Amino acid sequence: MKSAATHLVVMGVAGSGKTTLAEALSARLGWTMAEADEFHPASNIAKMNSGTPLNDEDRWPWLTAIRDWMTKQADAGQCTVLTCSALKQSYRDLLSEADGNVVFLHLNGDPELLGERIQNRTGHFMPPTLLPSQLATLEPLTDEEIATGSLVLDISHTPEQLVEDVLSALHLNVPN
Ligand SMILES: Nc1ncnc2c1ncn2[C@@H]1O[C@H](COP(=O)(O)OP(=O)(O)OP(=O)(O)O)[C@@H](O)[C@H]1O
Ligand SMILES: [Mg+2]
Repeated sequence: MKSAATHLVVMGVAGSGKTTLAEALSARLGWTMAEADEFHPASNIAKMNSGTPLNDEDRWPWLTAIRDWMTKQADAGQCTVLTCSALKQSYRDLLSEADGNVVFLHLNGDPELLGERIQNRTGHFMPPTLLPSQLATLEPLTDEEIATGSLVLDISHTPEQLVEDVLSALHLNVPN
């Protein structure tokens, strides 16, 4: 039987505000939060530490681990909030296999604002080529993904507004 649990996957390029929004949603909803980075196998961590970008073959075991975590949570009756860049539809299709209802929340905005956010961020090293390469890789949510409940969000909104945008679009009624 399909679980009734909901999984909110906050997606978008580096620096788009995934962690900020996921933390706010998790606090507001009381749902379990995880960051996709926590699910990499040791081989991927070693590769990233050596400065080698991951390829899709490296990503499948990682995405599978995230999918299986969502299923485990759903089977225990837990809804979740997850951060994952989920730039390609094939990655999202794999995550969508989890038990429960997987909803993608795409933090979308113009490259200029994304660049400003990244520049203003302190204590967070990011190679200057990362944002352009992620924007080139990004496959926006398809009409079908949107028709089945995923949302495009505007990064120019404040984190508080974004929480309200999500709650009202998904008809999640929670007290303040
Ligand atoms: N809605 C927002 N309005 C203004 N600033 C924001 C907003 N969301 C996040 N920020 C700021 O933008 C920067 C990046 O946010 P955050 O770390 O949440 O992004 P991220 O997508 O998780 O990044 P990464 O891909 O590196 O994990 C931070 O300095 C954060 O405070
Ligand atoms: Mg983050």
